[in-house]
Amino acid sequence: MHIVHIAVEMAPIAKVGGLGDVVTSLSRTVQDLNHNVDIILPKYDCLKFSDVKDLGYNRSYHWGGTEIKVWFGKVEGLSVYFLEPQNGFFSKGCVYGCNNDKERFAFFCHAALEFLLQGGFHPDIIHCHDWSSAPVAWLFKDHYVHYGLSKARIVFTIHNLEFGTHHIGKAMTYADKATTVSHTYSKEVAGDPAIAPHLHKFYGILNGIDQDMWDPFNDKFIPVSYTSENLVEGKRAAKEALQQKVGLRKSDLPLVGIITRLTHQKGIHLIKHAIWRTLDRGGQVVLLGSAPDPRIQNDFVNLANELHSSHADRARLCLTYDEPLSHLIYAGADFILVPSIFEPCGLTQLVAMRYGSIPVVRKTGGLYDTVFDVDHDKERAQALDLEPNGFSFDGADIAGVDYALNSIHVSSFHTTSRLYIYEDLEGQPLMIPFKQKQSSMTYDSFRAISAYYDGREWL
Ligand code: ADP
Ligand code: GLC
Repeated sequence: MHIVHIAVEMAPIAKVGGLGDVVTSLSRTVQDLNHNVDIILPKYDCLKFSDVKDLGYNRSYHWGGTEIKVWFGKVEGLSVYFLEPQNGFFSKGCVYGCNNDKERFAFFCHAALEFLLQGGFHPDIIHCHDWSSAPVAWLFKDHYVHYGLSKARIVFTIHNLEFGTHHIGKAMTYADKATTVSHTYSKEVAGDPAIAPHLHKFYGILNGIDQDMWDPFNDKFIPVSYTSENLVEGKRAAKEALQQKVGLRKSDLPLVGIITRLTHQKGIHLIKHAIWRTLDRGGQVVLLGSAPDPRIQNDFVNLANELHSSHADRARLCLTYDEPLSHLIYAGADFILVPSIFEPCGLTQLVAMRYGSIPVVRKTGGLYDTVFDVDHDKERAQALDLEPNGFSFDGADIAGVDYALNSIHVSSFHTTSRLYIYEDLEGQPLMIPFKQKQSSMTYDSFRAISAYYDGREWL
């Protein structure tokens, strides 16, 4: 089948969050299954061109009162067409953040469909994502369905309902099939007016992570390659490199990592509480995050300064976006904390497991579907042929965080090559196996999307 993604983010060249990761990893998985995949992306001035191979001019066409230059290149083995309208729509701002985002992304969606039509493409599936490429669904049905693109079916994936519900509701009406990124999130949003009328064509399919792009055995950003065979050595080296890089005291103290956009969704008050709780329990903490809202960013700058005076050797907040540092944190941390208020899927807990760090999460959306608490979720995990793999808590108050972080206790913490060993609340040894099974489970779920594409399930 020929599948075309029309998207505004793509890792690693134009990534803001998990949407960018998924466009790349889903496409690579589907391509590995012998489908023909193309991606259409705006040609932002801020693209990370160093990660685009063989970028070259492809063609030009006229649409929307301007000339649109098309560039073609390879990203992580995927074919990508970059649209560069000469009206300058994508020459300023980086992905989001312009005051005309809605207008320029709607323009991009229309231009992408026009490119497919004028270029003589005949895709079987056109896949669009979130509010930003939602217009593809209705523009296609309004303007293109009767022309050369007629055999295409529209698949629409909701990565986050919070943004642009009006667009999302409209795309739901026009899409042939719609998915969201975990089973639990699909249930959580089922009653939303944008979703409720369309449940007959709405599926929750868990995201995966790309096993090659996130691989502690082959990661240029960490000092020692590792698998479960040399986990202790690999993680110790990464922890030392991390401590040195961010200026923390070199030590074996349990280290909690947090890698996140700093927004309401991610549980700001729980993150702050967890930082202090970790320090109280004798651990170290490294946060990597940035806030689109300047007030929240400012708030964290103040916290960073406070921590710098009181706990310079044990806490560091890096208030920026930094891909290489994120890899070092996934590898060097003992725990990765994700206390989100809501989380459609969440990728950070999956990457954590891939790097042998224990996820500590709030039970919501995809976090609920992928993390099984060592104390409370044994049966739920067993029913899925999995094992408990982390700590999770209910509620949005600090008691949950306190429970989950009780495992952080200097004297009770050590790793062996296969196990993390803690004391539980009664002082009994508690073991968590290091396995990569959860992340391969999510890889399999991408295959489920491919089955859908194939029509075996629903087309
Ligand atoms: P969301 O898409 O809601 O932000 P996800 O967990 O799905 O959440 O994906 C977040 C992605 O962005 C992960 O790949 C994570 O490693 C990355 N990320 C988040 N914040 C940063 C940051 N400050 N620096 C580098 N990578 C980050
Ligand atoms: C969104 C969600 C996140 C999900 C990501 C990729 O940004 O907030 O939970 O993992 O998209 O689907």
